[in-house]
Amino acid sequence: MGSELVRTGRVIGLTRGELDVTDSAEFQRAIEHYHPTAVINAAAQAGVDQAERDPSGTMRVNSDAPGMMARVSAQWGIRFLHLSTDYVLDSPHSRRLAEDEEPNPQSTYAQSKLIGEQGVLSSGGTVVRLQWVYQPGDRGFFNRALAMMRTGQTVRLVTDQVGCPTPAEMVASALLTMAATGPCGLYHLATQGEATAFEWIAAGAEAMGIDFLGVAAQRADFDGAHRPARSVLDSSKVASTWGIKLPEWRNALQTVVRGSDRIGTGTDQ
Ligand SMILES: NC(=O)c1ccc[n+]([C@@H]2O[C@H](COP(=O)([O-])OP(=O)(O)OC[C@H]3O[C@@H](n4cnc5c(N)ncnc54)[C@H](OP(=O)(O)O)[C@@H]3O)[C@@H](O)[C@H]2O)c1
Repeated sequence: MGSELVRTGRVIGLTRGELDVTDSAEFQRAIEHYHPTAVINAAAQAGVDQAERDPSGTMRVNSDAPGMMARVSAQWGIRFLHLSTDYVLDSPHSRRLAEDEEPNPQSTYAQSKLIGEQGVLSSGGTVVRLQWVYQPGDRGFFNRALAMMRTGQTVRLVTDQVGCPTPAEMVASALLTMAATGPCGLYHLATQGEATAFEWIAAGAEAMGIDFLGVAAQRADFDGAHRPARSVLDSSKVASTWGIKLPEWRNALQTVVRGSDRIGTGTDQ
């Protein structure tokens, strides 16, 4: 997400080497140096399985740092936006999940992100929950799966996990609008419709002209931390507040694939 924000040309991106978000003095110095009109925190320990291996490191970045940055930003009168995840919810319901859905974090990652949200909201910041973020390029599950298929390898894809695949470049554009003006609070931001991971990668392969070599699998076939089985964010609040409505996920995918021929490897949720 940080890379896509920088790609808009309207954001100064700071790498971990330039700003460790767990260091409040470094954050203060960055604010004094750049005098931003808004801060968007795209930094996170975003590895869901890594969070189980390193809970304390994950908590420092995901739970403690966002609240600290929101407090400091509030002191300076700077708008603060923080990115969070649908994983803080885990609902048995089949409806789309709105912001008033009761949180139900089921992994260390989800717990760490929920605490981070609470710190930001209590300091008057804005939390934007995202899900299944991808961008044609060289990082993340989407690119890794398609890169494997390009080299003739089959990829096991689950048919019992449902979400809204959402392009990072569309999120970045929406975040800039939200950072500029409007109320603070909790918002969901995802594409319309819903897909299984199998359907998502199949659509990606078709859009990119790659032979689809997916093999249907179940979540239980994989090790690793808990992931919600069905998580489909309701983004109507962001639409009624800012007029931001992302397209249906297949249309969004075709749009971003047309704009890019980058593909490679990497990791994500
Ligand atoms: N990707 C998804 O599908 C998804 C879905 C829902 C929500 N989100 C949320 O969206 C946000 C961005 O996720 P992403 O997918 O862009 O994650 P990402 O690719 O893993 O990027 C996270 C970035 O944070 C940096 N970082 C980690 N610890 C830091 C620290 N102490 N100080 C400064 N920077 C630090 C990492 O630096 P290094 O490169 O040096 O490690 C990395 O550049 C996260 O809040 C995540 O929870 C993502």
